[in-house]
Amino acid sequence: MDTANEKTAHAESSMHKRFYIEDAAKWDGQVVTVKGWVYHKRSSGKIKFLVLRDGSGLMQSIFFQGETQPEALAAFEHLTQESSVEVTGRLRKEPRSPGGYELGVISLKTLQIAEAYPISPKEHGVEFLMENRHLWIRSQRQWAALRIRSEIIRAIHEFFEKQKFVRFDAPILTPSACEGTSNLFGTQYFDEKAYLSQSGQLYGEVGAMAFGKVYVYGPTFRAEKSKTRKHLTEFWMIEPEVAFADLNDNMELAEKFIEWIVQSVLANRAPELKILERDMKELEAIRGPFPRVSYDEAIRILERRGVAIPWGEDLGAPHETALGDEFGKPVFLHHMPSQIKAFYFKQSDIVGGPGVEGTGRYALGCDLIAPLGYGEIIGGGQREEDVNVLKRRIAEHGLKEEDYSWYLDLRRYGSVPHSGFGLGLERTVAWLTGVDHVRETIPFPRMLNTLRP
Ligand code: 4AD
Ligand code: MG
Repeated sequence: MDTANEKTAHAESSMHKRFYIEDAAKWDGQVVTVKGWVYHKRSSGKIKFLVLRDGSGLMQSIFFQGETQPEALAAFEHLTQESSVEVTGRLRKEPRSPGGYELGVISLKTLQIAEAYPISPKEHGVEFLMENRHLWIRSQRQWAALRIRSEIIRAIHEFFEKQKFVRFDAPILTPSACEGTSNLFGTQYFDEKAYLSQSGQLYGEVGAMAFGKVYVYGPTFRAEKSKTRKHLTEFWMIEPEVAFADLNDNMELAEKFIEWIVQSVLANRAPELKILERDMKELEAIRGPFPRVSYDEAIRILERRGVAIPWGEDLGAPHETALGDEFGKPVFLHHMPSQIKAFYFKQSDIVGGPGVEGTGRYALGCDLIAPLGYGEIIGGGQREEDVNVLKRRIAEHGLKEEDYSWYLDLRRYGSVPHSGFGLGLERTVAWLTGVDHVRETIPFPRMLNTLRP
């Protein structure tokens, strides 16, 4: 009988038997087959070295007359960088080999001899590497950064699952803006205009009123004309939204969340951090509480550090870097001037006070600024829950009330204080890996002038 269950069981067992370099310790002393690609090769007298990569790691294999079949020794000579091979041999401990094990080769099967590979160990310009992104990601540093990205994503889902959040998917095709109209990507949706989502937040708020606590995880789009090391036009955002939560609850959640991510990466991706030469001591010190600085205090700090800005202006890169340097760990910036924040923020007249009706000088926002100039990794805050104030804000922002009628309904039917935030995945990966540009934190970055591959 060949039931679906049996098929699955069979697939699992053959996967279990399959050797992967990252599991080498479990196979010490055994004969295994590495299915992978030639990373590089060299000969030294009678000994030949082939460094293999199989996607899970790198391993050195040794070709040696007497131990290795003569056919394999001959085939070695024809192997080029990135040729695909299956190499069988005995695994043994070798502290000098990457990963701590090496393979004493018995036999070799060549699947394909690769054509002259465009990316060699010599230095290449970034433009060239970006054009060859589909190959570049095989290189060690890129591989390590994307493995860490994957771990961060895993840790994110684990965090919210443990906290009993419901995952709530927001649409990507939307009829209206969340984060202002200046950087919307428009598209034709049959007979009407639609936009690619800048943020799932407004839909996340719907979810919070139905499920109490939700998180949206998805791609977001912004037509950013700026060419900086922090801006992509397509990036991934993680957006928790919680009913009956105020600004302080929000910062507490963000703090626990970041701690969790950092500690997960340290626990599960230390070899990759090492490849990237990331200072792990510094990451180990990323523990709460994170300093909480009001915008007004930040203005004073920036003045003292020689990068003053007038009240009411948004922080730029040098100001974020200065704040990071001041504290040496992530820092919350809260109570920003309303005039520079989106329409949905709850407002307050006094720093630290509850939202008071009045001039609404401050927005109950909280941004988390990463150290080392990686900038704002989280943006969020407490939402306006009063239907009339929200209507006024929509009008003040030049938005059309009818576009937000469903959003206003959340304030008509059982309105409650609620808060949430958005974590930018790529900026988080950049910070934790230490790579200096977000283009190396996503498999296929989309930026001004970058649409291929
Ligand atoms: O601060 P932002 O614009 O906040 C929002 O979109 C809220 N609606 C989120 C919420 O409260 N649910 O964006 C959130 C984060 C930023 O802190 C940053 O990390 C990232 O998204 N981000 C970008 N990352 C890469 N490229 C860009 N162009 C980005 N714009 C924002
Ligand atoms: Mg922001």
